[in-house]
Amino acid sequence: MTYHTTAISDVLLTEQQIRRRVAELGAAIAADYADLDPVLVGVLRGVVVFMADLMRAIPIPFSVDFLAISSYGDQAQPGQVRLLKDLESSVEGRHVLFVEDMVDTGLTLHTLLRMLGERKPASLNVCTLFDKPRLRLVRLPLRYIGFELPDRYVVGYGLDYRQRFRNLPYVGALAAHVLLPGGSQPVPAPTGD
Ligand code: PRP
Repeated sequence: MTYHTTAISDVLLTEQQIRRRVAELGAAIAADYADLDPVLVGVLRGVVVFMADLMRAIPIPFSVDFLAISSYGDQAQPGQVRLLKDLESSVEGRHVLFVEDMVDTGLTLHTLLRMLGERKPASLNVCTLFDKPRLRLVRLPLRYIGFELPDRYVVGYGLDYRQRFRNLPYVGALAAHVLLPGGSQPVPAPTGD
């Protein structure tokens, strides 16, 4: 038994389903960007698992770069973010594919797309592995979508709950007792048992 077993109520996407879909996304991106030498831009931290697999599913030349942000958590200005780490390279004149693990309200992505758009890329598109369209507050152009997810608290394959569970190779819904106030605090650290 692993540390997370009792915390997951049900598996929504298996490792195999995710692997197949990532391969399909990679093939579509490779076909669309064949001669464009794109740059894939990811937002830390949740995207790292998806980005690592997606990169290896795109058999064309491209570069990769990362942003790190922190939300202000300001109710008056939702979606406002603070840049903790900027891109290493200029995207001016480049074909940028923004890679996200999850789009919920879309406010984070909306802000980041506006920021990158001001840097005059040749094109700017989005690939998100997970999409929760029912939570969307702003309209966004999502060119590639891996899976639509229901409005449940899901973890795994990069998605976290209090920084845990990102390492699950599948996507699962958190059991109610974990989310109850005081229900499972602190989330147990991996023990390897
Ligand atoms: C997630 C995800 C997006 C954002 C989407 O990041 O990676 O960046 O939330 O939410 P929104 O559409 O409602 O704006 P999170 O803040 O959980 O950080 P993480 O990537 O470190 O897990």
